[in-house]
Amino acid sequence: MAGVMAGAMADVLGGGEMTDWGQDWGHVSVLRSEAIALLAVRSGGVYLDATLGAGGHGAAILAADPTVRLVGVDRDETALEIARDRLGAWGDRVTYVHSNFADYQPEPGQTFDGILADLGVSSMQFDRGDRGFSFRHDAPLDMRMDQRQPLTAAAVVNTWDEVDLANLIYQYGEERLSRRIARRIVEGRPFETTGALATAIFHGVPASYRHGRIHPATRTFQALRLAVNGELDALDRFLEQAPTWLAPGGRIALISFHSLEDRRVKHGLRQNPDLTLLTKKPILPTEAEQAANPRSRSAKLRGAERRAIPEVTSDQSHGSKGDRPPSKYRAKRDRP
Ligand SMILES: C[S@@+](CC[C@H](N)C(=O)[O-])C[C@H]1O[C@@H](n2cnc3c(N)ncnc32)[C@H](O)[C@@H]1O
Repeated sequence: MAGVMAGAMADVLGGGEMTDWGQDWGHVSVLRSEAIALLAVRSGGVYLDATLGAGGHGAAILAADPTVRLVGVDRDETALEIARDRLGAWGDRVTYVHSNFADYQPEPGQTFDGILADLGVSSMQFDRGDRGFSFRHDAPLDMRMDQRQPLTAAAVVNTWDEVDLANLIYQYGEERLSRRIARRIVEGRPFETTGALATAIFHGVPASYRHGRIHPATRTFQALRLAVNGELDALDRFLEQAPTWLAPGGRIALISFHSLEDRRVKHGLRQNPDLTLLTKKPILPTEAEQAANPRSRSAKLRGAERRAIPEVTSDQSHGSKGDRPPSKYRAKRDRP
């Protein structure tokens, strides 16, 4: 199914180089055609995929135009290996960078025509038992996207004090039973595995809370994952820096999966004076996409365009008014 859809899309996009990038690589890209349309991929452009993952969005960017180049960043080395495999046919049009997007710095003088970030974890990370992101598999409490970092979920669960755990679960999990769950964790620790922790949380909440829409440990697991990977701080830093890497007219597209991310994305794009918002309301997956890929249900896509910066001619740059552009080009906020 994914291959058929990708094939159809490659036709639409004129992706003459398409190989097997549309097949299922363990992660189905969310809002893929919407994100590519929002980026309005331009010929000869250089694009940054800040969350390369299995390379699904990256492949769609490359397929959109035969002269496009892509820099793909991911903090998970395993994801990069999969992407290298999937995007191999595009050869040296792709550069791979193993980094947190918050620490990434483009080469000096490098700007991008478009930047994409598809936030959070991939299905590959979530579904692989040994990574400890999910209690669907009993695994060591790890949750690190980047295996080089020392902090694991086990360290948070087994060493943080009760108040800090409660605050974490409340703020990052938006869990109303945070205090009760934190107490239960402290009473029952040490915990080594996802299964043991999820079971303790299950038995630590009222019976009426146990069989709701989601498992009672879901929000706590989200909080732990966000803390272990510093995801929200990384997003804040990225939202500050990434727009400065865009060429004039370049676009940024961001896909978020929960309200803590989406709130940051919305305000980060709106409040940046160098950006023009392209999405007053977020773009959501179609019903068909939601039915085919339940993980897409909470996805929201937002985008913005970098305002054009007027060129300063040599006359103006030597004029008595210093480096300031003529007033008609100045943004409203700069005018006296
Ligand atoms: C939802 S997946 C991306 C899937 C990809 N768009 C695709 O179509 O295959 C998110 C990826 O972003 C990576 N990631 C999350 N936060 C990151 C960060 N701060 N810096 C770099 N990579 C990050 C994760 O390791 C994961 O591989």
